Amino acid sequence: MLEIRNLTVAIGDNVILRDIDLHLPEGELHVLLGPNGSGKSSLLATIMGLPPFEVVSGEIIFAGTPIQSLDLTERAELGIGLAYQRPPSLDGVTVRSFAAALGAVAALETEAAALDLTGFLDRDMNVGFSGGEIKRWEVLKLVLQDPRLLLFDEPESGVDLEHVIAVGDAIRRVVGAPDRSGRTCSGLVITHTGLILSHVKADRAHIIKEGRLLHSGDPHELFGHIQTEGYTIPAA
Ligand SMILES: Nc1ncnc2c1ncn2[C@@H]1O[C@H](COP(=O)(O)OP(=O)(O)O)[C@@H](O)[C@H]1O
Ligand SMILES: [Mg+2]
Repeated sequence: MLEIRNLTVAIGDNVILRDIDLHLPEGELHVLLGPNGSGKSSLLATIMGLPPFEVVSGEIIFAGTPIQSLDLTERAELGIGLAYQRPPSLDGVTVRSFAAALGAVAALETEAAALDLTGFLDRDMNVGFSGGEIKRWEVLKLVLQDPRLLLFDEPESGVDLEHVIAVGDAIRRVVGAPDRSGRTCSGLVITHTGLILSHVKADRAHIIKEGRLLHSGDPHELFGHIQTEGYTIPAA
């Protein structure tokens, strides 16, 4: 589904990611772990095609298509979607009108209820929402976009425990399941706290540190290792 080969990414002269190799098979959910500033958000932004990240070398292949020269809209049309770490507020755009623009009104009520956002549909997006409400809406927005590759940047940070369950449920419902065209969805989730690991079935975890992919392995083993030893390579 997603194949990243030898990817080096820079902003101007500043290299942010170096020689990243990552393989995400169809239907799987992988997590990215790593200290602050290690390049996790930059990797998701690069996959999505957001500025100011420039691919210096390497390839990003999505469903067999090299995408590194495609723009953001083309990548979204291919079925890649990103739930932002810090999404903007949109004055004057209600949740309902946004869903209508996506052609997703039919799914809105059910998906909103699952994320405990029923009362929010006629409010302007993110305007006056609490931190946790913004994150839940961001997950809802991604689900409504109906992507085939779902990228989540810290979906559980700032979300209270009860709602982490709802966020985890939402991720579990879509990743590994078919999208509206019947294609199996895959997911890549950045988690700083690791909380989400208790609520989703993650297939593999990758540690990113100082812009390099340090190690990949079983998510629960790797997270246990990080909790006692920090972001290091576990002994074999
Ligand atoms: N828009 C940007 N402009 C300049 N530097 C950036 C930008 N975005 C990220 N960086 C830098 O890239 C590095 C990795 O950041 P980021 O990917 O946000 O880390 P993480 O998500 O792992 O905390 C940091 O040194 C950060 O300052
Ligand atoms: Mg980040």
